[in-house]
Amino acid sequence: MAAKTILITGVTRGLGRVMAEEFIRLGHIVIGCGRSEKEIVQLQTQFQSPHNFDIVDVADDQAVAAWAREILARHHPPDLLLNNAALIARNAKLWKVPAQEFSDVIDVNIKGVVNVIRHFVPAMIKQGRGIIVNFSSGWGRSTDAEVAPYCATKWAIEGLTQALAQELPSGMAAVPLNPGIIDTDMLRSCFGSSASSYPLPHEWATTAVPFLLEINSADNGRSLTARWW
Ligand SMILES: NC(=O)c1ccc[n+]([C@@H]2O[C@H](COP(=O)([O-])OP(=O)(O)OC[C@H]3O[C@@H](n4cnc5c(N)ncnc54)[C@H](OP(=O)(O)O)[C@@H]3O)[C@@H](O)[C@H]2O)c1
Repeated sequence: MAAKTILITGVTRGLGRVMAEEFIRLGHIVIGCGRSEKEIVQLQTQFQSPHNFDIVDVADDQAVAAWAREILARHHPPDLLLNNAALIARNAKLWKVPAQEFSDVIDVNIKGVVNVIRHFVPAMIKQGRGIIVNFSSGWGRSTDAEVAPYCATKWAIEGLTQALAQELPSGMAAVPLNPGIIDTDMLRSCFGSSASSYPLPHEWATTAVPFLLEINSADNGRSLTARWW
């Protein structure tokens, strides 16, 4: 398979981190971002050019715009854009979720995804190809108590991705993806110690990454669930 340019948000840990490592291992070029300086510097040292890792907060539209200008001046537009970065609020009944915590989840999980789409997708359209994968969740298709803010954002991701799919030119695709249930910091936040009964991120990545590489324009608008077993 020819090397693809793969843009991943939220590469400092969890699924984003293992996807970056696995795509690179398979010979692809990875462009990634996250907010944690220490982890981004470590990725920059470990994976040098043509890979590119930067400190970017996806909730900051101006920062994403500047990042996109810099990346698109030096790289092809992404063949695969993975909107992976997300937050979950601490488990709580909806009326007990502090206003700032609710806003933060909306700002990253919805507005952050759209900021990345706003600044990278026009170049993908100009190039005439590219796949956009917006990370959803089982909680983008069902609900549970004490995770309402997160559910709201992932249901939004399902809706906005379906609408985006109707706007793209032929040859491209946008899909919401439920990655499955994986033992990451996010899962530990909402599942507690029972998170340990789920696969570790690197176990997930060995089958999920080939699955991501198979997504093509025929999948446009389909709600997908990663194959990870
Ligand atoms: N783990 C699961 O079982 C599961 C299940 C369903 C769906 N998902 C979805 O899969 C994706 C990855 O989840 P995960 O479990 O890997 O989460 P995680 O371990 O909490 O990692 C989240 C990543 O997103 C980054 N991030 C958060 N806010 C950001 C911001 N404002 N700007 C840039 N990067 C930001 C974090 O880095 P910094 O803190 O350094 O910014 C981190 O690298 C998410 O969309 C999640 O909703 C996960």
